[in-house]
Amino acid sequence: MRAWVLSETDVLPTLQYLEDPKPVSENQRLIRIVNSSLNHRDIWIGKGQYPNIVFPCVPGSDGSGYMDNEPVIMNPGISWGENQEVQSDNFHIMGMPSQGTFAEYIVADKKQIHKLPKHLSCEEAAAIPLAGVTAYRAFMVKCQPTKDVKVLITGIGGGVSLWVLKYAVAIGCEVFVTSRYQDKINKAISLGATGGVNTSETDWSKQLYTLSGGVHIIIDSIMGNTLPDLIKLCLPGAKFCFYGASGGKTDNFSPHSIFWRQISLFGSTMGSDKDFSEMLKFISDHKIRPVIDTVFPFTKLPEAMERMKNSKQFGKIVLDHSK
Ligand SMILES: NC(=O)c1ccc[n+]([C@@H]2O[C@H](COP(=O)([O-])OP(=O)(O)OC[C@H]3O[C@@H](n4cnc5c(N)ncnc54)[C@H](OP(=O)(O)O)[C@@H]3O)[C@@H](O)[C@H]2O)c1
Repeated sequence: MRAWVLSETDVLPTLQYLEDPKPVSENQRLIRIVNSSLNHRDIWIGKGQYPNIVFPCVPGSDGSGYMDNEPVIMNPGISWGENQEVQSDNFHIMGMPSQGTFAEYIVADKKQIHKLPKHLSCEEAAAIPLAGVTAYRAFMVKCQPTKDVKVLITGIGGGVSLWVLKYAVAIGCEVFVTSRYQDKINKAISLGATGGVNTSETDWSKQLYTLSGGVHIIIDSIMGNTLPDLIKLCLPGAKFCFYGASGGKTDNFSPHSIFWRQISLFGSTMGSDKDFSEMLKFISDHKIRPVIDTVFPFTKLPEAMERMKNSKQFGKIVLDHSK
């Protein structure tokens, strides 16, 4: 089969011919991948900025395709375990060290394989797994939103961020967003956000306070030196959940800004098997469609990665494995 292989840090993946994978136990199934999609994880691995990298590897955590004649998607989270609070020590994500979805075939455990939501095509469903479940756990499971809350989602161009937007709009929350690009804010408003501010402007956090009057929930993956400004936007009792830190470490952070106003600051990662199943039900019940930025031919993975590296995207970048 054809598969994209990452062999070392800071070198583009190369398209190679590998042996087709074969199920080795009763519990495994072979899937012909029709579409896959990118996550920032694929970029971090390529840059060598991910824990326990094993080269060579076939990256890619999201995929949809056919198991015999049935359209399916896969939960990229493997071995979460029984504890809903936290993943087990054996937890890992498809696409390094195990073979990922940037290939023509993959072998997955029966437990990972799910039917496609009926209202979605394979192309759309490939945009769900990793970003969809991360957003579902961080927002729906950990923040327990109701329709009367105000929610702030940062870096709205991102794959996970836009899933949070979709869930929040489906519930009826009032949503505010940030981005470094005005056109992404405008697109988010067209998807149901009330408003947003451009974080390239120095007084963005004041502007956001004027616009929103403060928020009950913040979902973030940037952190870095935006954290102190974001905390100022929290209403008393607010929940601040972050699942990444693309902006790096935070300097000069004052913990006093947190406790007096009873703010909960906590992290979230991926989602359990239960979260994944509940997310698919929520997407089906609300007939939610993903935001897809671009569909690239399978042979154009390096171009697709470049688009993500440069934050050009608004939504998920999908690969079409027939091209
Ligand atoms: N813990 C987990 O389980 C988990 C799961 C998924 C993702 N993540 C992490 O969460 C982050 C987002 O992942 P993703 O796949 O959604 O990525 P993505 O699609 O590339 O989106 C990230 C968005 O964040 C904003 N952004 C990125 N770098 C920034 C910076 N330095 N300063 C300000 N804004 C920045 C950009 O928004 P604008 O262009 O709108 O400004 C960008 O579109 C990554 O760090 C990823 O590793 C963690």
